[in-house]
Amino acid sequence: MSYLADTSLNPAALEFLERIERQFYLDDDQLRAILAQFLKEFELGLSKYGESPAMVPTYVTHLPDGSERGTFLALDLGGTNLRVCQVTLLGNRQVEMNQSKYRVSEALKTGEAEDLFNYIADSVDHFLTTADVPLTEDETLYLGLTFSFPVEQTAINKGKLLSWTKGFAATHAIGNDVMQMLQDALDRRHIHVKCAALINDTVGCLMSRAYFSGGCILGAIFGTGTNGAYVDNMSAVKKLSKDAFEGARPDHMVINTEWGAFDNGRKVIPRTIFDNKLDRESINPRFQAYEKCISGMYLGEIVRNILLYLIDNSILFGGDSSKQFNAHYGFDTELMSNIASDKSDEGTACRAILTQKMGMDDKVVQPNDIAIVRWACTIVATRAAKLSGCAVAAIIEQTHCADGHEDFVDVGVDGSLIQFYPGFEDGLRSSLRVLVGEKIEKRTRIGLAKDGSGIGAALGALASLKQERAKQGLPALTTGPDTDAAPSDEANGVDKAGLADSVA
Ligand code: BGC
Repeated sequence: MSYLADTSLNPAALEFLERIERQFYLDDDQLRAILAQFLKEFELGLSKYGESPAMVPTYVTHLPDGSERGTFLALDLGGTNLRVCQVTLLGNRQVEMNQSKYRVSEALKTGEAEDLFNYIADSVDHFLTTADVPLTEDETLYLGLTFSFPVEQTAINKGKLLSWTKGFAATHAIGNDVMQMLQDALDRRHIHVKCAALINDTVGCLMSRAYFSGGCILGAIFGTGTNGAYVDNMSAVKKLSKDAFEGARPDHMVINTEWGAFDNGRKVIPRTIFDNKLDRESINPRFQAYEKCISGMYLGEIVRNILLYLIDNSILFGGDSSKQFNAHYGFDTELMSNIASDKSDEGTACRAILTQKMGMDDKVVQPNDIAIVRWACTIVATRAAKLSGCAVAAIIEQTHCADGHEDFVDVGVDGSLIQFYPGFEDGLRSSLRVLVGEKIEKRTRIGLAKDGSGIGAALGALASLKQERAKQGLPALTTGPDTDAAPSDEANGVDKAGLADSVA
């Protein structure tokens, strides 16, 4: 067996583990079937509303080129913290930024939506008063909201929440216009802020990468959740009728795929009993099927399910468990990442995690146990990374972006897995290689999109402003480049020194 070769496990135990490992393994034919299904589901989602993935038209019709300018407020909701940022786009692929973080408690995530939006408005108020944002009485600040959940948009600044994901479950939000809820909460407090753009984090990621680095075909998040946004020809977006636009129908549009919901019909990804248990016990059973095999919210829980099964079969820890291992979501994906970073033969970091974080007795933890825990993390993370490569391959196929030229295929990414999980990008590339061929895989440049949720939201607010002016027949905003700054792989110019990182 690939990941357990050097242990002294007995043959019966090895065989037991081998059976599990096989269930997590994806061969090349399975990867090809997943890619084909992706393209099928993309087509369906682009032709009809109510499908999964939702393939949301975002009404963002142009990508930035680095010359954009202006000061905007950006809000980022979708993870542990709410971020409020003041972003100044300097127009030469440079940005200045000032931000504060506000904790979003479990009670807010699962309580009344109105309370959540009131809290967001209060945080904006707090930010504006403490971060010294120059704003006169009659001046309006334009705000871009990065809202990292599935929303069916009807304009760049309008969209109804389709469902919550990643542990959010606030009531009376689904079906309502997110921007309106936020605007109402701001208006109740007489805050002079206009909600201009509703941006998914993947759209922000795509826009930010384009601002800093030039052309970009995909903005993808591999973090707590997973998703991707790309630019498609309007001819492919069959579900958008001609009268969906007040002005001329654009040629292109950014599509937020919401690929976390890929294979909700369970057609191609082989499920293990560990996945089924996770799904059944989740707050959204049968939804976000792909995300549940891939993202940081869930990987630790799949590993925990495997380890508990091995404990129950007396293969691990001599059958012992701990309070932490017994707790739902008790094994965080970050611990997996720390275990995977430990390259020592004896697994020193893994032992420390098991004893100090997971409450296992040091005397109980044997070298074979450490090998098994490392193995479980590896098989779950490897599958996640390979599955992630299928989504990237699907966008390359969908956009035909690699056809007929030798240029780089640029992919902007963000999220804890792709940034920090050892070997995640290698695993992603291994399936990409199978699906698009080595030549194109080599030409695929995967680079971090710096703060897509903050800078992307500001770029979204500017895009919205431009659309509004065009609708009113006003002259276009001048955003010509100040300098000939070359596309950069680094997000240079982001003023980290000025960050006001208060978590209220
Ligand atoms: C949400 C997406 C989001 C992704 C990454 C998913 O759970 O549905 O809208 O882009 O997480 O944050």
